[in-house]
Amino acid sequence: MGWRRFLWTAPAGIARMEDSSLISHEVYSPDIAGVLIPRHRIAARLDELARSITEAYPGGELTILAALTGSLVFLSDLIRRLPLRLRVDVVRVSSYPHEATASREPSVLIAPGGDLPGRHVLVIDDILDSGKTLELIRGLAMEAGAASVRTCVLLAKRRDDLPGRVAADFTGFEIDDQFVVGYGLDYGDLYRNLPDLCLLRDLAGGAGR
Ligand code: IMP
Ligand code: MG
Repeated sequence: MGWRRFLWTAPAGIARMEDSSLISHEVYSPDIAGVLIPRHRIAARLDELARSITEAYPGGELTILAALTGSLVFLSDLIRRLPLRLRVDVVRVSSYPHEATASREPSVLIAPGGDLPGRHVLVIDDILDSGKTLELIRGLAMEAGAASVRTCVLLAKRRDDLPGRVAADFTGFEIDDQFVVGYGLDYGDLYRNLPDLCLLRDLAGGAGR
């Protein structure tokens, strides 16, 4: 029966997509030491984060200000879980020049657009390390006249050496002080397309600092 064949071929299609995402792993496999946080744990945590964020904006309006490029995957998965009247703006900040693994003084490469005055702004980044990037972007939103500014990161590195570091208002996972790639995060602009958060073979541990 035609409808029956349709129902039975749909799951097979999904399975093939999973296979091809594993092939993207294959390309990188010589460089990857292992998976730190698999995609299903990321998805489950995003559900929780999205609920907390939604509750924090009872007025139902939110402007996200996302830091390119690392937050791209997190951003796209998060906003589809937020049932709010939502605007998205981006800012591009350079923290890690080329293949460095310790962040420098961040500088603004692409400034936010002009629609922040009077908005409730949630700054989004992939990972909080020294905190300088998030502070810089929070400052940009405040200078622009946002009505409120809060911050959200997928990951926060445990930095016992920086006791006064800023905390994000919303954090997905706290991790040890190690260099991670995948799910948008890069090293030398590679590995962003890995579906899981992974550790690099040669950079496990707080390299470069
Ligand atoms: P911070 O300014 O020291 O907090 O550094 C945060 C920025 O550095 C993030 O926006 C990331 O782009 C980058 N970063 C920090 N740690 C990592 C990492 O482990 N992998 C990839 N990028 C990182
Ligand atoms: Mg970044």
